[in-house]
Amino acid sequence: MYYVGIDLGTSAVKLILINEEGKILKKVSKDYPIYFPNVGWSEQNPNDWYNKTISGLKELINDIDKDKIDGIGIAGQMHGLVILDKYDNIIRPAILWNDNRTIKENEYLNNIIGKERLSEYTGNISFTGFTAPKLLWIKNNENSNFKKINKIMLPKDYLVYMLTGVHSTDVSDASGTLFFDVKNRCWSEKMLEICSIYKYQLPKIFESYEIVGNLKENLLNELGLKKNKIKVIAGAGDNAAAIGTGTIGNGSCNISLGTSGTVFISNNSFTIDKNNSLHSFCHSDGKYHLLGCILSAASCNKWWIEEILKSKNYEEEQREITNLGENEVYFLPYLMGERSPHNDPNARGMFIGMNMDTKREDMTQAILEGVAFAFKDLIEISKSMGINIERSKICGGGSKSILWKEILANVLNMEIDVIDNEEGPSLGVAILAGVSCNAFNNIEDASSMMINIKETIKPKKELAIKYKNKYNKFKKIYPTISKLYDELMN
Ligand code: XUL
Repeated sequence: MYYVGIDLGTSAVKLILINEEGKILKKVSKDYPIYFPNVGWSEQNPNDWYNKTISGLKELINDIDKDKIDGIGIAGQMHGLVILDKYDNIIRPAILWNDNRTIKENEYLNNIIGKERLSEYTGNISFTGFTAPKLLWIKNNENSNFKKINKIMLPKDYLVYMLTGVHSTDVSDASGTLFFDVKNRCWSEKMLEICSIYKYQLPKIFESYEIVGNLKENLLNELGLKKNKIKVIAGAGDNAAAIGTGTIGNGSCNISLGTSGTVFISNNSFTIDKNNSLHSFCHSDGKYHLLGCILSAASCNKWWIEEILKSKNYEEEQREITNLGENEVYFLPYLMGERSPHNDPNARGMFIGMNMDTKREDMTQAILEGVAFAFKDLIEISKSMGINIERSKICGGGSKSILWKEILANVLNMEIDVIDNEEGPSLGVAILAGVSCNAFNNIEDASSMMINIKETIKPKKELAIKYKNKYNKFKKIYPTISKLYDELMN
């Protein structure tokens, strides 16, 4: 039997086909645009997601025995707001996880409703990218759209709806809405009241691996499928789909060095950071996890290499970097504001420490190091919670750079395990679909069968000490200038 995993990313939808032996048979990726209609805004058209998914699916299954397809799982970018009217039509473009328009609504939730109450009701506080402040923004700024809302959906849930006709979400993605009581895995009545939402407007909650329905008949025909039952599971937020990197079990960690950067720490029980700097979310394996998210990670390097240096040759730009631990230039990677740990939409990118000898490669190096230091901020919070992470897996586009992985291993002073596939979320939900359809005994068996460590990067003692000293300086920069950011941006 075959299982399809779909990852609805920010720049592309990535599809993967696996069989019941856990072999990856085929991969397809289809891009779509992202729109920035105003400074700090970030939107996409859900029709693009759907159309590209269907054309990707057609390509994925064009040369296989289609009747062997048994189940489909969908992972996706988290926190995005998709609103549907009573005919299930899209009311406006989706507002994405990295959109910062909700500064006022975020302040209202954190300061007027209050962080303590939010944390008590949901296990989290508000961040501009979360779904609840977005909904309040619609209420405050597009009230006629707000009045039309019949269903509030997350990006991947919109796809699940289009595939099955069922309005569903899963616990891991619902965790990032701030309408959700993470500890008890249910919608929070208190938050619904605060955000003026009726329960009927929210989709039904499932565990990530639960089957929500079957592929709709019109799609069976369009895709040329004769079988009448292809199961679709609830799926997961792209981070919780980290089971595609084998990140399950207490204390296991994954770093995603993608557009955003995340540190994902799997936890058997619900735990909370006293400042809520790390998110406390449900995991797709039925348990919990902590998550820290830096909004610009590999995207800082992309911006620097492509937009500023006007190059496409990432390797060549990194080739001249030889003085690890010695760079005098620092970079703050807050190009889109920052989520974890600062929760500051006004923060911005900054270079500091240049002199007349500073070279192009020092600036490139500062970018890679600045992102690594931002990851270190997150690891330090987990340490303060008594969680000692000694090793982590790594995934995401930025992890292709050998140099960046070496910098990370030394800045974090931990072993970095590189796994033998790069699929991450799409493989994670394909595994979940396989488990739900009884192709695999359980998630643990399936991921240990499919996920192997191909290389481990170990920190070097001397270099780790040099980076510790550098980090101690880096961490003083933001608190020193944070007030200035507010002034510059207002
Ligand atoms: C996590 C987050 C991002 C998106 C990007 O909280 O906002 O990782 O899920 O895909």
